[in-house]
Amino acid sequence: MSENSKDTAVTTADTAADGDVLLKVTGLQKHFPIKKGLLQRQVGAVHAVDGIDFEVRRGETLGVVGESGCGKSTMGRLITRLLEPTGGKVEFEGKDITHLGVSGMRPMRRDVQMIFQDPYSSLNPRHTIGTIVGAPFRLQGVTPEGGIKKEVQRLLSVVGLNPEHYNRYPHEFSGGQRQRIGIARALALSPKLVVADEPVSALDVSIQAQVVNLLDDLQQELGLTYVIIAHDLSVVRHVSDRIAVMYLGKIVELADRDLLYKSPMHPYTKALMSAVPIPDPRRKSEKSERILLKGDVPSPISPPSGCRFHTRCWKATEICKTTEPPLLELRPGQRVACHHPENFEDQQPQDTVLLSAAKEAAELVSEEVLAESAETSAAVAKAVEEGELAVEEPAAEEPAEDDAPSAEEPAEASEESGEPEAPTEAPSKKK
Ligand SMILES: Nc1ncnc2c1ncn2[C@@H]1O[C@H](COP(=O)(O)OP(=O)(O)OP(=O)(O)O)[C@@H](O)[C@H]1O
Ligand code: SF4
Ligand SMILES: [Mg+2]
Repeated sequence: MSENSKDTAVTTADTAADGDVLLKVTGLQKHFPIKKGLLQRQVGAVHAVDGIDFEVRRGETLGVVGESGCGKSTMGRLITRLLEPTGGKVEFEGKDITHLGVSGMRPMRRDVQMIFQDPYSSLNPRHTIGTIVGAPFRLQGVTPEGGIKKEVQRLLSVVGLNPEHYNRYPHEFSGGQRQRIGIARALALSPKLVVADEPVSALDVSIQAQVVNLLDDLQQELGLTYVIIAHDLSVVRHVSDRIAVMYLGKIVELADRDLLYKSPMHPYTKALMSAVPIPDPRRKSEKSERILLKGDVPSPISPPSGCRFHTRCWKATEICKTTEPPLLELRPGQRVACHHPENFEDQQPQDTVLLSAAKEAAELVSEEVLAESAETSAAVAKAVEEGELAVEEPAAEEPAEDDAPSAEEPAEASEESGEPEAPTEAPSKKK
């Protein structure tokens, strides 16, 4: 991209009117310290989130995608303030919540809720679903009209579960049903913002569509605002208004959904996109290239210089290695951080000499492989579009009411914040 085109690009300033913005994040950072030795001296830091800017508008769904370890969950936990940011600012409804303590955050907990990835470990196995879904009321000291039990039963039916199953335990439900329970708990206090961290990735493909549809329906009925995190573009495609693509702690592209799918501008987005099979079986035979990125995501302990993607990018030149590209609005509704963006009139790099690694960074995969993966995902995409929402039946017998602990039993503190009791995600590598 020439200097001229950079000059004419709009900076990352808000494009939404301030009144529309529910959440605004500026320069957000989270560095996890690495300590060693007896004295536990800090010897480095994991740059999990390393300076990101975005805003979430009231009523929209912002999808966040990226490979494993790029900082998506950390970002989700920062904006729900389950983690303390190292730097930057988080504003909710214009109020700075970046460093609010537990008591300061208590009223905000009603407005901002989180749904976790793993419905198996995020629900306390010793509590009935009545206790689990009713916990937010007890912890916030709120008594809904008609009482907690009645409200919990209403919430269960809102998420497509049988209100009569109030006294059952999580193990009696399938994965999809458990995720519905997690959703009911998140909705209990009528939040304004729901952050869903990979809400369907632990579920069977056939169930994923149901849960995604449920989230979509609830948004329309309840006027919710979502941040939905996924490592797979096909999950967020149908529900997102805008999509942020993360790579190694940074947002590399943030765009309206249709713009992103029609003409991705960041080479990394293009690579992610090429891995998403074509959902329309009629277009299955269209020629498309699948870009395989070579190598793993580099370590966030010492991210590459300049553009962090330069070690895997097939367009990388010297400037990419030395200068970090800022996130600029190159088209209305499309912000990109790249020196040589795709689908842009001026793609000629000033320095045209490719880094040697770039020449080997991408390769094409045969049409057969592409067609095969297109077939499997076509079914999912179709189910999402047609809004199939079959309700599953519980897997086990109903226990005797007497055996179940009291629904009024105090919930564990972890349910207040929505934190799962067992770690849901060891930082693992998915491919
Ligand atoms: N509590 C922690 N202490 C140290 N490092 C952490 C901690 N939590 C996350 N990290 C590191 O921060 C980086 C980002 O992790 P994060 O869980 O946010 O990634 P992610 O994009 O959600 O990945 P995944 O798709 O696997 O869930 C990873 O390198 C991870 O190892
Ligand atoms: S062209 Fe350069 S700046 Fe753009 S993604 Fe590739 S390495 Fe990064
Ligand atoms: Mg994660």
